[in-house]
Amino acid sequence: MNIAVYPGTFDPFTNGHKDLVQRASTNIFDKVYVCVAENSRKETLFSLSERINLAEKSLIDLKNIEVIGFDGLLVDFAEKLNAKVILRGLRVVSDFEYEFQMSSMNKKLNHNIESIFLTPSESYAFLSSSLVKEIAELGGDISKFVSSEVKDALQTKYK
Ligand code: PNS
Repeated sequence: MNIAVYPGTFDPFTNGHKDLVQRASTNIFDKVYVCVAENSRKETLFSLSERINLAEKSLIDLKNIEVIGFDGLLVDFAEKLNAKVILRGLRVVSDFEYEFQMSSMNKKLNHNIESIFLTPSESYAFLSSSLVKEIAELGGDISKFVSSEVKDALQTKYK
């Protein structure tokens, strides 16, 4: 079985994340675990359980995927799940340095696990969770960028 983990903070989960999971779980992997990081260095708007819940709701129509929260090292969690691949999205050149550093370090920590990158579909290349939060906070329309559940959750947070 060809298993991948797709880790991230997902604060919150966007249609860009979904596009990547959909393509990976339909065309490339038998199973994709969406791994929501508890212990991210970033301060999050949504709690871990809220982020998991919103990712699950956004992915309700997809098969071969599972959303799980994790704490600790990603490579250890991937190994527990029998995943051989860490999947990440690479949108713009500015993502590269951070992604390169992380994948090199993950490789040093566990040489059996490979990082694989997918570029976004064109319409999502500009999309990020931080921009979506900023637009929602300022009262802009985010319905094209996130699921209706995420939209409602953001509106409630910023009320
Ligand atoms: O969505 P993000 O914030 O870019 O995701 C970053 C994430 C969660 C993938 C990264 O911080 C991570 O892997 N955290 C788990 C802890 C870990 O393994 N750290 C060492 C990375 S080399």
